[in-house]
Amino acid sequence: MRCEEKYAELYGRAPESISFCGYRIAPLGAHIDHQFGHILGCSIDKGIHIAYGRKKSGICELNSINFPGKRAQFHVNEIPEEKVGDWADHCRGAAKMLGEKYPLRTGISGVIEGELPIGGLSSSASVIIAFISALAAVNHIRLGDWELIMMAKAAENRYVGVNCGKLDQACEVLGRKDQWLFLDCADDTASLISAPEKMKPAGFAIFFSGLERSLANSAYNLRQDECKAAAYTLLAHAHLPYGKFADTRLREVPRPVFDQYKDRLPENFRKRAEHFFGEDARVIHGVRAWQNGNLDEFGRLVFESGASSIMNYECGCPELIRLYEILKETEGVYGGRFSGAGFKGCCLAVIDPEKQEDILRTVEQKYLKAYPGLEGKYMSAVCSLADGVGARL
Ligand code: GLA
Repeated sequence: MRCEEKYAELYGRAPESISFCGYRIAPLGAHIDHQFGHILGCSIDKGIHIAYGRKKSGICELNSINFPGKRAQFHVNEIPEEKVGDWADHCRGAAKMLGEKYPLRTGISGVIEGELPIGGLSSSASVIIAFISALAAVNHIRLGDWELIMMAKAAENRYVGVNCGKLDQACEVLGRKDQWLFLDCADDTASLISAPEKMKPAGFAIFFSGLERSLANSAYNLRQDECKAAAYTLLAHAHLPYGKFADTRLREVPRPVFDQYKDRLPENFRKRAEHFFGEDARVIHGVRAWQNGNLDEFGRLVFESGASSIMNYECGCPELIRLYEILKETEGVYGGRFSGAGFKGCCLAVIDPEKQEDILRTVEQKYLKAYPGLEGKYMSAVCSLADGVGARL
């Protein structure tokens, strides 16, 4: 691993340990975690590695293979109140949240390495979780799964400034090899979903548009406000009780209320709510399809989810939409959609592993024909569903 080598080069010794957190894919349940809907996802075998050793001074000294030459340094007990605006904010936020709950004395020297291009696989949550795990280990702190999930989420919400839900963190901690995590984001009921042996083999592929993103915070947060505005208005139309605007979620709105009053919503709010109700139902159907071994139906739902993200949730960009369209017409692709927030980044696909090579080649040819300028930036990769961090705690 490059982070191990870089660590040895910088410090003249091997790292004491490596902290790893896989990225996540979530084929169903996009953009409804923050509205307390259901999600389906898992951690994957690619992610963030941090090669580290302890620093008794309490200093964290961090280098990143992905951001060369930009070393970051801070003391575990003197984290700036406001984010600094560089790549290490995720680590500062992580240390701050851990330090709010537990006394910290020891820092780390660390070299961080992220596999694959950034964007769409939730590298933010992975780096936070890998960093919290390393810092907890050198300070002799043991964290429970949900404690880690909520701490990592708080680092993004309260320090980095993204109002993300818990999809990424839950998948990266609770995910298990070859299974889906099915999570109800309203009450955190979680279960693992397996396919029957009779199901055709399923593979997973990721297609990077070539457009990396630092989280499109403002667009992501704006969509959430639109969802809340839809929920608030629907509850008011139906004379149902509501509380603070900031605490209102579409999950509180009964589906019949949406059906009855949707035409009174401004168009944008109606579309966001349409996405919520459709996507939540798709997750439930998707679980059943996977458990019944109906891969074609599962894939169809994933494509439908992608269409709703484009038409109703209105995220994406022309490049990602083109990728989605190419996936739809490629033989051997059961289903595909934007991965993650979907403003830039990548698409994920559920594929027939026997057709993997043809699929990767065809998609690349068609995409680069449409966007020749992205040659060298576009790339694809395959991945598998792997154990999350919780399996190792
Ligand atoms: C990002 C957020 C998640 C989730 C997805 C979209 O990855 O961090 O909480 O909302 O987008 O499903």
